[in-house]
Amino acid sequence: MISRIILAIGLLLAPPVAAQTNSSVRLDVPYVPTPPFVIKAMLDLAKVGPDDVVYDLGSGDGRIVIDAVQTRGVKRAVGIDLNPVQVADANANAEKAGVTDRVTFTVGDVFKEDLSPATVVTMYLLPNVNLRLRPRLLDHLKPGTRVVSHAFHMFDWPPDAQEKVLGEVPIYMWIIPAKVQGTWTGKAGEGSFTFSLAQKFQVVSGLLTREGQKPVALNGQLAGNELMVIGNDGVSLRGKITGATLIGAITLAGAPQDIVLTRQ
Ligand SMILES: C[S@@+](CC[C@H](N)C(=O)[O-])C[C@H]1O[C@@H](n2cnc3c(N)ncnc32)[C@H](O)[C@@H]1O
Repeated sequence: MISRIILAIGLLLAPPVAAQTNSSVRLDVPYVPTPPFVIKAMLDLAKVGPDDVVYDLGSGDGRIVIDAVQTRGVKRAVGIDLNPVQVADANANAEKAGVTDRVTFTVGDVFKEDLSPATVVTMYLLPNVNLRLRPRLLDHLKPGTRVVSHAFHMFDWPPDAQEKVLGEVPIYMWIIPAKVQGTWTGKAGEGSFTFSLAQKFQVVSGLLTREGQKPVALNGQLAGNELMVIGNDGVSLRGKITGATLIGAITLAGAPQDIVLTRQ
């Protein structure tokens, strides 16, 4: 137990270091490997499977990337590390594991590389690095992409799931939410509906207005592209967002009706 705590504290306290082969490269996080039992829990929490493309940000010796291919049979896995020594080590480990056909290790900066192909992102960075990365994750990853972090959170972005591995090591998972903030209008049956939605990460609030009815306050949540909001009078909207269109169902007085909403 003590050794695991020391590992996390060590990463937290370690100063930024220069990569071994190139002193002009300053790492945002020193190398500390994730133990295998934590990797298993991270991949389980994100429900990683054969359809996934996994990116490990700051991939070290490649263990998460290689494990994702070996134990989950993912389509493809990519590691990005600023330190060329780590990337050489990761490539040698992929060779030994016989997974070079499905893994790529790139010398690169997680603040600059294209992350958009990922369906799952793993990371063991530091709290302030997570915070700096947050806007990139939210803007560049597809809605629905799962992000799993070993040890460190994302401040006021609440995780969609979390656990303490063996009761000790925290891991967190977030699902990249679609962007729903704005005004959405549409018809269901005879009624016209206007949803004015505000969003903070995956948490949604807003107002539903209908002709001849009092506005209704709404609260809800996004899970990737899937939106669910409930009004304080029992009305609910559930639907899938694709770009500027939401297709789903509105439930009024217990009766669901199909609805298509368009963002104004
Ligand atoms: C704590 S280690 C995690 C290694 C691996 N992901 C694991 O969990 O076993 C962090 C890694 O991030 C790399 N790193 C630090 N800053 C980086 C940056 N800006 N871009 C890419 N990699 C970076 C370091 O070289 C180190 O290998």
